[in-house]
Amino acid sequence: MEVIIRPTTEEACLLTARVIARELRDKPSLVLGLATGGTMERVYAHLAQMHREDGLDFSLCRTFNLDEYIGLTPEDTHSYRHYMNTHLFDHVNIDIRNTHLPHGTAEDLNAECQRYEALIRECGGIDLQLLGIGQDGHIGFNEPLSALFSRTRQKALTPTTITQNACYFGGDPEQVPRRAITMGVGTILECDRCLVLVTGDRKADILAKAVEGPATAMVTATATQFHAHCSVIVDEGAATSLREKEYYRWLYDNEPEWAVFREGRA
Ligand code: GLP
Repeated sequence: MEVIIRPTTEEACLLTARVIARELRDKPSLVLGLATGGTMERVYAHLAQMHREDGLDFSLCRTFNLDEYIGLTPEDTHSYRHYMNTHLFDHVNIDIRNTHLPHGTAEDLNAECQRYEALIRECGGIDLQLLGIGQDGHIGFNEPLSALFSRTRQKALTPTTITQNACYFGGDPEQVPRRAITMGVGTILECDRCLVLVTGDRKADILAKAVEGPATAMVTATATQFHAHCSVIVDEGAATSLREKEYYRWLYDNEPEWAVFREGRA
């Protein structure tokens, strides 16, 4: 794992978008794992702008989202399908048939979870998985005590998550669905590369636990420590509680892998 600290939220989001854009240029048929949440909105805005202004090409790209609320139709404005369409898919030249989210209204939800896993496998697995971190340290909707080998399945949301996500449901926690389908931690860890974006000082303590704390199913983001290629991009606010900040700053300033980004060549 490597941690990259950028001075502002905007710079952290822009760097994340540039990493994705570079992978997409290198491999136009990229299988891209996507995340939702307020953190990702600026990343998607940057990708849309790169498509508009620099011709970033999504025509062969296939996407798999981490999760979807159970009980919400794709048309529901609170569904993650709606989020993805409005924040990214409607603004780039992706073939909408190549964009996948679990169906939260499937009649047989367990069969839907298996279908989703099989579809990821059929596409050859996920090349790059974008991840955020919830207030309780979840990735996807892998709430505390999710098995670190778990697969796509139904999961009940914790009160912390329901409270955190109430802002997207008019501020009313009662409106937030209680359950979701989420890729498992094991499913996520099979991707070739993980790209985690965490911004804002309200995430500082959970970020420190996620990257510097002991690996535990209580904070499923700690599982990313086991991934062979995991980059965690954060802003100064989220970095506040990290112990090894100076080392992380040195990494971005010196490691050859980041030179193209430092020098504005990607
Ligand atoms: C939801 C999603 C997570 C995401 C989290 C963070 O819970 N299931 O994948 O990481 O939101 O949300 P935000 O970016 O709004 O803090």
